[in-house]
Amino acid sequence: MSATLDGIDLVNPDNYVDEVPFEWFDRLRRESPVTWHPEPAPNHGFWAVTRYDDLTQIHMDWETFSSETGAVALEELDPEQLRVRKTMLDTDPPRHTELRRICSKNFSGRGVAAYEDFIRDVARRVLDQAFAHEELDFVSEISRELPIRFLCTIFTVPQDDAPKLIAWGDQMIANQDPDLSGAVVDKVDTEEYRNLQFRSPAALEVFEYARRQRDDRLEQPTDDVISALTIAEREGVLTERELLNYFAVLMIAGNETTRHTITSGMLALMRNPDQLQLLKDDPSLIPAATEELLRWASPVMHFRRTATRDVELRGQQIKAGDKVVTWYISANRDEEVFPDPYRFDVTRKPNDHVTFGPGGPHFCLGAHLARLETKILFQEMIPRLDTIELAGPVERIRSNFVNGIKRMPVRVSTS
Ligand code: HEM
Repeated sequence: MSATLDGIDLVNPDNYVDEVPFEWFDRLRRESPVTWHPEPAPNHGFWAVTRYDDLTQIHMDWETFSSETGAVALEELDPEQLRVRKTMLDTDPPRHTELRRICSKNFSGRGVAAYEDFIRDVARRVLDQAFAHEELDFVSEISRELPIRFLCTIFTVPQDDAPKLIAWGDQMIANQDPDLSGAVVDKVDTEEYRNLQFRSPAALEVFEYARRQRDDRLEQPTDDVISALTIAEREGVLTERELLNYFAVLMIAGNETTRHTITSGMLALMRNPDQLQLLKDDPSLIPAATEELLRWASPVMHFRRTATRDVELRGQQIKAGDKVVTWYISANRDEEVFPDPYRFDVTRKPNDHVTFGPGGPHFCLGAHLARLETKILFQEMIPRLDTIELAGPVERIRSNFVNGIKRMPVRVSTS
């Protein structure tokens, strides 16, 4: 059992299965926006930060709130795990800057815009295939397909590898869901996998795959992301393990999150038919509406920092070494920033959500890509839809980290 805070327990993944417990976040923002949250052993508890402005302050001040001192997830790592599992996510500048630079060009606005036609083409093909049936699972037939096919392209790996990359990614990130992972971290002993990302055995297969890709690039260099990593290893910027971790992070981050944005976005449109109608009547609204889909979906619920010195925040005394967890899912519903935050409004403006993080050095590397994929998919899909409705229960992932849907049966009629 997780410890509770006056009835609030943000740790137990079971509490997210039916719905995100938004009423808890509302109460925390209102009554105790920086609050100490106990955790079951071996963890030691954390500060839960739930207000938008506080998230921004923390993420900008990386010297006080470090990503490197203690990693960025709730799991507490010992020095060996910290060293072995390190990625750009778990480093501070200047090392972070060096790591991020290796492939920042590939993910820049200009870098991903070059793939726009390709993405549109894939989106059309995925939709043709999915809409050949009246009833379908929206997740497995639509939202899951697009992000991984695009990753295969920027990695220049065969599209036929997409299914196994999807399966590995699911097993790693959804490591609290018995439906998706064989090694559920809070249910079975995962000690043997302690040095692997997400304590997941799937990481071993991902590493093996990345090694083979690296070896291919050594023989035949190309101009893709894996080549950039291969060169960095050859020049001594990355160790082999860092290269493998880098690959794994890109694969995981680029696969799941955009998928959940697409699914949650579609669900919100089905539940708010007036908003869907607005987009059907005027598709030029879709690019701006993408921001509301992203705010609404908030696929990553939190990341963590570790305080490097004693510091006061909203009257609370945070001690050096304390874990500080910033809840994006809460900040994206902060009524001080988003008027009527539970209204799904595709014309909302301004819409400065923190779905990709509130800024600072770790702002999502894939933000341009995720925005482009989401926008294109809805641009291609909405004009085809005469009607779309749920055809069965929506099933959510058991996780306190990803806000995701694993099954969403729908019935569609298309023109
Ligand atoms: C809707 C989709 C996405 C969401 C919601 C999302 C969310 C986030 C968030 C919140 C962070 C900040 C982590 C922190 O502050 O510690 C982050 C970082 C990151 N994201 Fe994304 N992401 C998405 C898509 C992608 C894609 C498509 C890729 C690339 C393939 C990607 C790669 C990364 C990487 C590499 C980082 C680490 C950046 C750094 O530490 O400097 N993400 N993402």
